[in-house]
Amino acid sequence: MGKRYRGAILNPINRNDIEFFQSGFLDVDDNGRIEAVGDLGDAAEGDFEGNLLIIPAFVDIHTHLPQFDVRGTFSGNELLPWLKDYIWPEEAKCADLGHVKDIAERFYRDLIKHGTLTAGIYGTIHESAVCEMIDLMPIRGRLGKVIMDANSPENLSETTEESLEITERLCKKYGDKHVVTPRFAPSCSFESMKKAAEIAHKYDCFIQTHLSENKDEIAWVKELFPDAKNYTDVYYKAGLLGPKTIVGHAVHCDDDELETLKKTGTKIAHCPTSNEALKSGTMPLDKIIKFGIPFALATDVGAGPKTSMLDVMRCFLNVHGSGHNGLRNSPNVSPVSALYYATLAGAEVLGYGDETGNFKKGKSADFLVLDIKVVSGEKPDEIIRKLTHESDYDSIVKEAYLGGRKLN
Ligand code: GUN
Ligand code: FE
Repeated sequence: MGKRYRGAILNPINRNDIEFFQSGFLDVDDNGRIEAVGDLGDAAEGDFEGNLLIIPAFVDIHTHLPQFDVRGTFSGNELLPWLKDYIWPEEAKCADLGHVKDIAERFYRDLIKHGTLTAGIYGTIHESAVCEMIDLMPIRGRLGKVIMDANSPENLSETTEESLEITERLCKKYGDKHVVTPRFAPSCSFESMKKAAEIAHKYDCFIQTHLSENKDEIAWVKELFPDAKNYTDVYYKAGLLGPKTIVGHAVHCDDDELETLKKTGTKIAHCPTSNEALKSGTMPLDKIIKFGIPFALATDVGAGPKTSMLDVMRCFLNVHGSGHNGLRNSPNVSPVSALYYATLAGAEVLGYGDETGNFKKGKSADFLVLDIKVVSGEKPDEIIRKLTHESDYDSIVKEAYLGGRKLN
């Protein structure tokens, strides 16, 4: 029998194109798959009331579950002191499984509340904590045990052997739901990065890490790895780069590094709210598009202060757009492109492109019903700008469906 959902509908196609159905319908079959999407046009007269907008569920390709409770706490710190003062003590708490269960449940509930139903997630170093985080996950996603076998505090470090053994066990247990996660070059020995890459290839798992986020971090990497040409080269030499690798940030990469990312098929998680909060800098968006490196948007909670992808889209538009409320006729930056980078592009980067991200027939019915009035004649750019710049992120998601099943 299936089910029909009615409302205005936005269906992202690519960076520039979006389908818009003013009197739209979304048909979901009994298996929770998209059957059809379209417009009822004049036939809809008098048939539908309510001010609803249906969009694909959001995809957040880089977020840290254990940092949920300290999101937005900075006191003006940049990356390295922030990690030391706020993040290490917080992540150390995940040695306690009671804490993990509590924070994981609240984290996932909050993601659903804000319409994020697919995510790429960082855990902590702890094996049983990571198992709990994966086992409790009610959304679509991948999550990784963080590798930290160098330059880390006592209560948050492990031997190279331990960290690799745990990584391999988790890949064996969870397959590609587990992401091989060398945290970033400073917290990893070269040996652990090299072996981590081998484990990822053996089990065909994704790899996630941080790259070139902050100037002091880059200087530290240069000190730690004097033989590498640059930061990206450390990962390249370790064999970590490739089409199933997602690097967070890439704010300060030079042309040589971008060439390496392009050549290896590596993807970027672009985290504008995080970059703004930690004063990391601005990712060179136009250049990254010119190089043809795939990227998508992410919150990077807890450096990013909010779990809402609408907030990330707002920041993306403000940072890279003209500043005129995010409305700009650029081929690269527009509200339509922001929605694409927060949905379909993220699904593709995370390896779920055939499964979610838009309303292509046969995909999983992962969608949101938003509580917003769409005025007749409004264009997609205007509607999306209203979502990012004028809506209440905490209450706009009325219903959230994953595979046709309502989660909220
Ligand atoms: N670099 C290494 N670890 C982290 C982290 O947890 N957050 C951010 N933003 N950058 C990092
Ligand atoms: Fe991060």
